[in-house]
Amino acid sequence: MPAHLIDGKAIGAAVRAEIRDRAGEFSARTGIRPCLAAVLVGDDPASRVYVRNKGKACHETGMLSRQIDLPATLPENDLLALVAELNADPAVHGILVQLPLPGHIDESRVIEAISPDKDVDGFHPVNAGRLLTGGRCFVPCTPLGIMKMLDHESVDLKGKHAVVVGRSNIVGKPVALLLLARHATVTICHSRTKDLPAVVRSADVVVAAIGKAEMIRGAWLAPGAVVIDVGINRLPDGRLVGDVAFEEAREVAGKITPVPGGVGPMTITMLLHNTLEAATRMATSV
Ligand code: GUN
Repeated sequence: MPAHLIDGKAIGAAVRAEIRDRAGEFSARTGIRPCLAAVLVGDDPASRVYVRNKGKACHETGMLSRQIDLPATLPENDLLALVAELNADPAVHGILVQLPLPGHIDESRVIEAISPDKDVDGFHPVNAGRLLTGGRCFVPCTPLGIMKMLDHESVDLKGKHAVVVGRSNIVGKPVALLLLARHATVTICHSRTKDLPAVVRSADVVVAAIGKAEMIRGAWLAPGAVVIDVGINRLPDGRLVGDVAFEEAREVAGKITPVPGGVGPMTITMLLHNTLEAATRMATSV
């Protein structure tokens, strides 16, 4: 029997409806509209689309957004000065600097300049450190969205073997920590892992976040495994595929996310969640 499809579009829409209700109640109670400031440096077409979609999603859930477009030649100090202004602006609750930044700008320096209280991407080392130690923090949006999907699908993680393929700061490492916090036994794999198919075959839950088109094959999976595919890869023929060979994998897996329509729609949804959370924390801490 083919795997059950985990419909990220439907789950994302349901979560957004909840966020819209909560944002409405928050605004009615406090008179504050949560506001996300999104900074775009340069004119990478994909980044432009992402930033526009983030702003649109804010408005659809009753929140405000500010998009700040800057030239690719912007000196790093000017960007740092803008971040300092946004940090000090009480009307801004979340700050997002779209990555990648032009080569002359040090990304870490910019991320570290964002106030951890407004870091709705969860990229600041203070938030990353608190995730590691179990403190209150902003969690990066894609890993948070993955956990939301697993919960929505009632996937029991306790004692299960979760195999994360990929070790990025944005997805692999944080999702491994979240799975660990939910009592999974977690293995993090990467390009140098020996006999990756054998490790993946031992997984109850597989999170694929390697950025290589259809690398994880159906024959690598244990029957009934839950497969979360974070990859978005464009093939030469124009098709969009994940890091998992979907048609093969769906014949073996128990549950699987499609690409597109799986993890993707959850990421912006969780950005909205974090922005509302930032506004709520700010309103209750003064
Ligand atoms: N570039 C690609 N994904 C992301 C993201 O989640 N946040 C930011 N700031 N930049 C990105």
